[in-house]
Amino acid sequence: MSATATLHLMVGLPGVGKTTVARGLEDTARAVRLTPDEWMIPLFGDPEADGKRDILEGRLLWTAHQVLRAGASVVVDFGCWVAAERWAVRAIAEHADAQFEMHVVDLPDAERRARAAGRWESDPETTFDLQESDHERALAVFEPPSADELGDGPLASPPRGFSSWLMWAAHRWPSLPDLSEQRR
Ligand SMILES: Nc1ncnc2c1ncn2[C@@H]1O[C@H](COP(=O)(O)OP(=O)(O)OP(=O)(O)O)[C@@H](O)[C@H]1O
Ligand SMILES: [Mg+2]
Repeated sequence: MSATATLHLMVGLPGVGKTTVARGLEDTARAVRLTPDEWMIPLFGDPEADGKRDILEGRLLWTAHQVLRAGASVVVDFGCWVAAERWAVRAIAEHADAQFEMHVVDLPDAERRARAAGRWESDPETTFDLQESDHERALAVFEPPSADELGDGPLASPPRGFSSWLMWAAHRWPSLPDLSEQRR
């Protein structure tokens, strides 16, 4: 395996520019980009579709782990609004003996919303029409990455009831097996 295989995780609110940065990483980091909307919309015609997004994301994380194990880099373009998800994705990278790099994209809220609205005007087939309630939910749920997450320290402890972040990840994304139970 290449020592430089890296899992790049995009973090940020809707419309902030994550996928645009992730596209750049395809070239600059020679990484395979995994963007859920590019699967949800062609498969189901709907970016949320009845809980299927969690199922799809689990399979994409499973794919990300395989890409890393094959020695290539990957961009997980999920947004990952909460810290637990980000620790879990980092644990997946570490399980593959890969590097982990978080890319936090941030903007003043008015500018972010303007970008989201502009994209709906220019590229409606790649996205969906974000409503005020979608923005409000995102702002309520989003946890900005902490200094611990951004530093080089060890993983945080997994949530109560879970012996590892890999176990928690399999719970959060039901189509992702507990990778610690799989042959490496
Ligand atoms: N640096 C930039 N300057 C101006 N416009 C930008 C920039 N980056 C992205 N955009 C535009 O902003 C819009 C949103 O960008 P993008 O799709 O990358 O956001 P996103 O964070 O991936 O959104 P989502 O969370 O909905 O997937 C797009 O129309 C994109 O072309
Ligand atoms: Mg995007």
